[in-house]
Amino acid sequence: MTLFHAASNKVSSQNTVETRLKIQRLLEPTLVVSLSAGSDVIKGLTQTPKFLPPRYFYDDFGSELFEQICALSEYYLTRTETAILQQYAGEIAQITGSCELVELGSGSSTKTRILLDAYYQFGYSLRYVPIDVSAGMLESSARHLLTDYPTLQVHALAGTYEMALTHLEPTQFPTRMICFIGSSLGNLNPQECDVFFSQITNTLEVGEYFLLGVDLQKPKHLLEAAYNDSQGVTAAFNINMLQHLNRQFEGDFDTTQFEHWAFYNETENQIEMHLRSLRSQTVQLRSLNLNVHFEAGETILTEISRKFEINFIQQELKAKGLVPQTVWTDPNQWFALLLCQLQP
Ligand SMILES: C[S@@+](CC[C@H](N)C(=O)[O-])C[C@H]1O[C@@H](n2cnc3c(N)ncnc32)[C@H](O)[C@@H]1O
Repeated sequence: MTLFHAASNKVSSQNTVETRLKIQRLLEPTLVVSLSAGSDVIKGLTQTPKFLPPRYFYDDFGSELFEQICALSEYYLTRTETAILQQYAGEIAQITGSCELVELGSGSSTKTRILLDAYYQFGYSLRYVPIDVSAGMLESSARHLLTDYPTLQVHALAGTYEMALTHLEPTQFPTRMICFIGSSLGNLNPQECDVFFSQITNTLEVGEYFLLGVDLQKPKHLLEAAYNDSQGVTAAFNINMLQHLNRQFEGDFDTTQFEHWAFYNETENQIEMHLRSLRSQTVQLRSLNLNVHFEAGETILTEISRKFEINFIQQELKAKGLVPQTVWTDPNQWFALLLCQLQP
């Protein structure tokens, strides 16, 4: 792990940004190869059926593609959650007051700006702690925020949710809010979700907050359109995971020999995104010392995106002591934002 304050030999307006920015890298590239990242790839590609953790979508190019997905007309999630935040960010700020805002999977922090604006409007001071596995996107978003919000302090953590939550320092602010928006909870299966909620509970002090954005159940055609957009951006995002693995693990995936496949599994209430092998082939990941054989038509599950019922998710949260104080939704009830408070 390294900790550094970005270099400060620039002009004075830049200095202000540099002194307000702290970046902590929890994943060193060399460690990524030799430790946790490699082992999850080996595990996923040696099981039947094969799977890969969705965090491998997010190299720099994957993060850019995700931003393009957010702007697609079929991808209702971002605009719906944005509208909810625009309507209720003021209420959120009034409930928590001045706080340390920790965001898991912050990406471009675009929606976070709505929250920051609301806190500043009420004159509340803030410290922002974005956490993301995509280090390039994390740093560039932090710098843009610091330029646009001249009194903001940012302590960015580059790493996985699990690692970063264990590296949070005690807050100097009256309270803390961990924010997990963008429907990312849906990427966790029920067991992972259970472990994740326990980690949130263990990280927060009693009385502190958890803001969660979840996608809700809706007609299948709307869901399937969102993950099979007409411009093929989601397909490119899915395929890019193989490029990422090629780079990171000296792989030789031929990306022209896999195709994107996404559908709604109505039994599990989840979108499943797969990569399907177009022929019988063997792929090598040299730095992992791994050869993987694919039959023609065989798939790798790259993401689930669970779609929730509000009552169900409220019960799950309550069972962990994360008691929903307010639940906001949109007129179609497509998406929900839950503000929970940790109770003893
Ligand atoms: C679906 S995007 C959401 C981005 C943003 N929060 C939003 O609402 O638009 C998920 C983000 O989480 C990051 N991410 C995915 N898995 C992660 C993990 N296990 N640990 C940390 N960050 C992760 C990705 O790099 C990406 O920026």
